[in-house]
Amino acid sequence: MNNIIVNNAVLLVIAAVAASMMMLPTAEAALYTVGDDLGWTIPPGGAATYAAWAAKHSFVVKDILVFNFSAGEDDLAVVTKEDFDTCNTTNPLYEFEEPATLQFLASDTFYFTSTLAGHCSKGQKLAIYFAPSSTDSPSPSPTSSFPLKLVSQKIMQGTRT
Ligand SMILES: *[C@@H]1O[C@H](CO)[C@@H](O)[C@H](O)[C@H]1NC(C)=O
Ligand SMILES: *[C@@H]1O[C@H](CO)[C@@H](O)[C@H](O)[C@H]1NC(C)=O
Repeated sequence: MNNIIVNNAVLLVIAAVAASMMMLPTAEAALYTVGDDLGWTIPPGGAATYAAWAAKHSFVVKDILVFNFSAGEDDLAVVTKEDFDTCNTTNPLYEFEEPATLQFLASDTFYFTSTLAGHCSKGQKLAIYFAPSSTDSPSPSPTSSFPLKLVSQKIMQGTRT
């Protein structure tokens, strides 16, 4: 319940920020901070940590993930399933060296890890399936050929109650 409240608070903040910057489409999108308070790091509980976090939520297209980490101490890589399974981070699909707020525009499974030595094998990995959005129009809008969009490299601060 706490998490839902926090996420809603963060969502309100990002919605307000986004509206003022006109960066986000008007369609409702949920915003999740990956790992909640843990952020994006080597999880103390190993790979099960992020799997358990992901299992608490159901993600749909246009949802937004906040990867919170300190630049230089960590990074974020989007990789193929094969590279995810083998922890091969030599050639990621996308790589972010600063904390990133990403919106997902395609219904697909996305695989996340860190390119820093040992981080993937120590369990800093997360796979998330984004289901098709029920509110999507039948013909996909040709806004972008990229399945994900960098919304911000700032970490949106939620009000914690
Ligand atoms: C890792 O991936 C790269 C390119 O994607 C490939 O050339 C390399 O052989 C892979 N390394 C291992 C250990 O599989
Ligand atoms: C991001 O991480 C920093 C350092 O761990 C923390 O102080 C901050 O509250 C986090 N921000 C969010 C939105 O979780």
